[in-house]
Amino acid sequence: MAREFTRVGVVGLGTMGAGIVEVFARNGVDVTAVEISDAALERGRATLTGSTDRAVAKGKLAEAERDALMARVDFRVGLDALHDVDLVIEAVPEHLDLKQRIFAELDRVCKPETILATNTSSLSVTEISVATTRPNQVIGIHFFNPAPVMKLVEVVRTVVTSADVVADVEALCERLGKVDVTISDRAGFIANALLFGYLNHAVGMFEARYATREDIDAAMKLGCGLPMGPLALMDLIGLDTAYEILDTMYRRGGRDRRHAPAPLLKQMVTAGLLGRKSGRGFYTYEQPGSPKVVPDEFTPLAADAALADGTRAIAKVGVVGSGTMATGIIEVFAKAGYEVVSVTRGAEKSAKVCEAVKTSLNKGVVRGKLSETDRDEALGRITWSATLEHLADVDLVVEAVIEELSVKKALFASLDEICKPGVVLATTTSSLPVIDVAMATQRPADVVGLHFFNPAPIMPLVEIVQTIRTSAETSATARAVCAKLGKTGVVCGDRSGFIVNALLFPYLNDAVKMLEASYSTADDIDYAMKLGCGYPMGPFELLDVVGLDVSLAIQRELYLELREPGFAPAPLLEHLVTAGYLGRKSGRGFRDHTRR
Ligand SMILES: NC(=O)c1ccc[n+]([C@@H]2O[C@H](COP(=O)([O-])OP(=O)(O)OC[C@H]3O[C@@H](n4cnc5c(N)ncnc54)[C@H](O)[C@@H]3O)[C@@H](O)[C@H]2O)c1
Repeated sequence: MAREFTRVGVVGLGTMGAGIVEVFARNGVDVTAVEISDAALERGRATLTGSTDRAVAKGKLAEAERDALMARVDFRVGLDALHDVDLVIEAVPEHLDLKQRIFAELDRVCKPETILATNTSSLSVTEISVATTRPNQVIGIHFFNPAPVMKLVEVVRTVVTSADVVADVEALCERLGKVDVTISDRAGFIANALLFGYLNHAVGMFEARYATREDIDAAMKLGCGLPMGPLALMDLIGLDTAYEILDTMYRRGGRDRRHAPAPLLKQMVTAGLLGRKSGRGFYTYEQPGSPKVVPDEFTPLAADAALADGTRAIAKVGVVGSGTMATGIIEVFAKAGYEVVSVTRGAEKSAKVCEAVKTSLNKGVVRGKLSETDRDEALGRITWSATLEHLADVDLVVEAVIEELSVKKALFASLDEICKPGVVLATTTSSLPVIDVAMATQRPADVVGLHFFNPAPIMPLVEIVQTIRTSAETSATARAVCAKLGKTGVVCGDRSGFIVNALLFPYLNDAVKMLEASYSTADDIDYAMKLGCGYPMGPFELLDVVGLDVSLAIQRELYLELREPGFAPAPLLEHLVTAGYLGRKSGRGFRDHTRR
């Protein structure tokens, strides 16, 4: 028989605590909600009222339900109010000494059978538990932000947590409609261990002015389908909390430099820029606690105004190559109204690409996304050629040939001879340095990276890669072209992986290392990222789709360029590739796809 939890206590009603109170009260559990002062209590009550009122306004909660929910919560100052609860969840700031003091006090105040739980993200539950006389009744219950929305709960058992306490808490999670993964006590558990290196890396990119906050966030949202970008997520988590989590993970997790908090974070915390809760972090919010971003001095001017001057007129575009990317890019430009000259290595290849473009456009017609006239006009704009000389009068060339530096350099040298002055020369490379390609020409200022994502007609993102020689005019022109294509162009520097791959692949590699260390299973790790962080796919699902060989190659490039020990490819990934387990394309990767 699972233990009955009729009344629970929540300590600390900040970002997480207020949400946790709501989760319990929504599910019919009485809550004693405790804060340190009257003022903090009122803030906590206001957060809960705001959240439930929004749910009513959105039609997700009836008014009577909201009133019943609020009536279940007893708001109190001081831990003494917790003398009669069956379970306490602590959600005070991420400091070990503070949490230990609170647990010692809870041990004194609460009934002997009460379970004491911490919502810590990174501290050792074991170290917190030894501040009490009942470490076997201490457990981690790690909710995700926002607690009422995110489905995942990480249940953290220490080496002394008793089995029945674990079972009772697991049953409680189910009653709350949550999905739990039960794991042992390791810094960052599953989700944060995989998330925070990525978040810190994104802050580092922003700090180094590698890309703007808007572009970093747009890249991860549009390139990976994440619910929010890393800097917006930092603001939601709270920069002070994020700083403490990183700092603890750095110290507990083997001093991986990727967890050493970016210096900018410390400065922002000291300056009181804590994210949404203080009204300002990486972005500025309407008021403290508000999710609404308002423009500030860093907000880019409206796209049109910014692009009005200094761009070159582009009407005719050459696309070189005959693979998947070239085919998609030809379609994208032709549909957007550009004259397109496709250049392949022979008539046969041209015929194949032409067929592929026709098939794709026809699909658009069948799905009602394109009229027959639009399709015919798009096709009419394309000229098929097998000679680079036909690119003499184009305004922009997009190169999408094989990912080999020697081939691309030779091609750019030829383009330099053939194309008219003022042409913009773009490469779609996803891993080679754009500057190497640019220096194969006599006009590196006109060379830029245009990194489209696959499938190009569908993916809304293009990374515009500026080398140290790219002119402002060239990059403004590239932005204007992306806008006309209906794509979001994000501008970044010429570093391995640009924005998306540099942030994505180390995270995938970390997941492989976690699996290799037997900390958790592929299924639970996938669940944790989907249900805890709202990712469209878990890391192992994504690795199998992308291909393990491709992922390994990208990770190797990142490691070679940055020499960051934490970026070293996971041995398990190398072994799987050697064994021919490449993912879906070979029938087997992290999972066996032949049996499904
Ligand atoms: N922010 C997140 O996204 C997130 C997600 C999961 C877990 N966590 C964890 O949850 C915990 C709380 O983080 P947060 O982001 O909600 O912090 P927060 O700063 O938003 O809130 C902490 C609250 O604790 C209160 N408090 C401080 N001392 C207290 C005391 N002695 N008694 C009662 N209340 C006290 C504060 O007044 C404040 O309201 C941390 O351990 C954090 O790691 C945070």
